[in-house]
Amino acid sequence: MQLQKVKILGAGSIGNHFSHAARTIGASVDLCDIDQQALQRTKEQIYPARYGSWDDSINLHSSEEAPKGGYDLIIIGTPPDTHNKLAIEAIKEKPKAVLIEKPLCTPDFHLVEELINTSNEFNVPVFVGYDHVVGMASNYASDLAMQSKGNIGSLTTLDVEFREYWGGIFNAHPWLDGPSDTYLGYWQRGGGASGEHSHALNLWQHFSRVFGCGRVVEVSAMMEYMNDGKVDYDSICLLNLRTENGLCGRVVQDVVTEPPRKWARMQGDQGFIEWHCGYQPGCDAVLLNQSKNKTQEELFPKSRPDDFVAELRHIEKSLETNPALSPIALHRGLDTMLVIAAAHLSARKSCSVIIDYSKGYKLEALDLVVRKMERV
Ligand SMILES: NC(=O)c1ccc[n+]([C@@H]2O[C@H](COP(=O)([O-])OP(=O)(O)OC[C@H]3O[C@@H](n4cnc5c(N)ncnc54)[C@H](O)[C@@H]3O)[C@@H](O)[C@H]2O)c1
Repeated sequence: MQLQKVKILGAGSIGNHFSHAARTIGASVDLCDIDQQALQRTKEQIYPARYGSWDDSINLHSSEEAPKGGYDLIIIGTPPDTHNKLAIEAIKEKPKAVLIEKPLCTPDFHLVEELINTSNEFNVPVFVGYDHVVGMASNYASDLAMQSKGNIGSLTTLDVEFREYWGGIFNAHPWLDGPSDTYLGYWQRGGGASGEHSHALNLWQHFSRVFGCGRVVEVSAMMEYMNDGKVDYDSICLLNLRTENGLCGRVVQDVVTEPPRKWARMQGDQGFIEWHCGYQPGCDAVLLNQSKNKTQEELFPKSRPDDFVAELRHIEKSLETNPALSPIALHRGLDTMLVIAAAHLSARKSCSVIIDYSKGYKLEALDLVVRKMERV
């Protein structure tokens, strides 16, 4: 189905990307924000600087006066600690779908149960903005993985890293003084490396599923927390993971590494597949090595704005089939939140944490390995 009418909440960095992406696929755009200055910045600075000129057909609204009802897609592009409340209200407008930006919510799962119930009650599918798992390069890597018998054999381990100094974010937000001015400086509000770069964890979970290795059931984390009495966030988040089918691997997310490295490696017993974001300027890549032969390189030229166009196209296609099967379906974003929450518990208690999915998407699904052993 074609998305024709899109509403976007939050006229910040991601709100601009999606306004541009929605216009690129021919949809009308209502862009809303609680902050009048954010709307003004969008029109005068962010949008023209990124995409060449302002697009007069984009309607800007203060949130209080935003139109309601009749949308194909409502996008929640606000800070993570506001996502669920806004998404629940958006679902009640009965759009064809709602897209919530990553990370889905705060690591305490605030309003998650109500979000799931409202999505079911109104029959409105919810997607979560982990765009990398529906990009060209990861689709290609997944296709290779599905023919893994002919390619790299059985998966022996999986590594994903999203390491990127977040100075670029603050350069793009000159009105912010630093992490303390935004949710980014507070892990409990969805910030820090664990939330901001959770694309890495989500990609790990995605490739694990593609290889048939299942969901993460055990998390052992080490975090570097920055806490000066003002900010409280993890600048480095190191995760050792094990899945229900026994796959053991690693995720690294940090907000300190420059130049950045966004990379995944699927090591099989007969070769490897590597996924690279920004392999060359303007290009992602997938490398394939089978049976120690010469490594083959497949390049995927694209810009960052292209990622969001691809994401909207993916949503269009998913709505024609079964949205629950999408790699960016709500339950996939919730699986990522469970591991983020488990990681903070593990790091703070210096202990591995196990995840019991039968308890639902809540803190009760997490248990320290020692506590579990004491009970047995
Ligand atoms: N998928 C990606 O790669 C990607 C890229 C950038 C940002 N994001 C995500 O998008 C979200 C927003 O990030 P950003 O960088 O655009 O932030 P931002 O600070 O640039 O913009 C957020 C905007 O939301 C507005 N806002 C706050 N509460 C609101 C409300 N209740 N209703 C309407 N507007 C409200 C703020 O005034 C602000 O203008 C975060 O969850 C972030 O992680 C994802």
